[in-house]
Amino acid sequence: MSTPTLRDEIIEKHGKNAWDLVLTVYVNFYYSELEIIDLCARWIPRRDDLREKQYLLHHASDEIVHARLFREGVERLGMPWDGFDHGKYRIDDIDRRFRKLYESEDEIEVLIGLNLYAEGVLAMEELHQLGRNKPEYFPEFSRIEREERRHMGFGVSVAKRLLDESEETRRRGIEYCKWYQEHLDNYLGGELSQTISWAIDQGFVQDDYIPRTRERFNETMSKLGLLEV
Ligand SMILES: [Fe+2]
Ligand SMILES: [Fe+2]
Repeated sequence: MSTPTLRDEIIEKHGKNAWDLVLTVYVNFYYSELEIIDLCARWIPRRDDLREKQYLLHHASDEIVHARLFREGVERLGMPWDGFDHGKYRIDDIDRRFRKLYESEDEIEVLIGLNLYAEGVLAMEELHQLGRNKPEYFPEFSRIEREERRHMGFGVSVAKRLLDESEETRRRGIEYCKWYQEHLDNYLGGELSQTISWAIDQGFVQDDYIPRTRERFNETMSKLGLLEV
């Protein structure tokens, strides 16, 4: 008989839904990283300041490492990366948001949507809770969380400069911020509500996952002073 894998353990201890949840997490993080690499690359030629260009290079190169870590994370559990249908696990909303950002010509929208919201709010809370509650299944998540904090920092620094330079940019920033606030309200309690409740039931995340994510949203966006309360 072959040695049981962590995948077998997850299914035995937590059920098949938990295994699907684990794959959902890894697959969506992996594909998000690929999108972020392309998004960073798109903005490198548009930035003049060398330090700000360097942020994008550093950011993209961190994401290449993360993409590898997510892939290896699945393999470590005993599932070959090419051994399952990724499409079944992908969350459409993430693809739509990245498409919107990729098509945007407005840098403040990209910084708010990517560095602050996708990374600084959604990814950070997820990485933080899964890495802390289930380090045996998500062993690299704490490290990745630290690096996501850096990406959020890059975004805050460039966004602050843009906002200080123009009142018009600030006005658009407030609008984007409202858009993401509304998105957050619909997202976690909508498309993801079933997945989040399985995650809570099985102790993968805490039962106040949604309010904590909202709190993180308020904290993160208030770094730019864009939140209208
Ligand atoms: Fe990342
Ligand atoms: Fe990141």
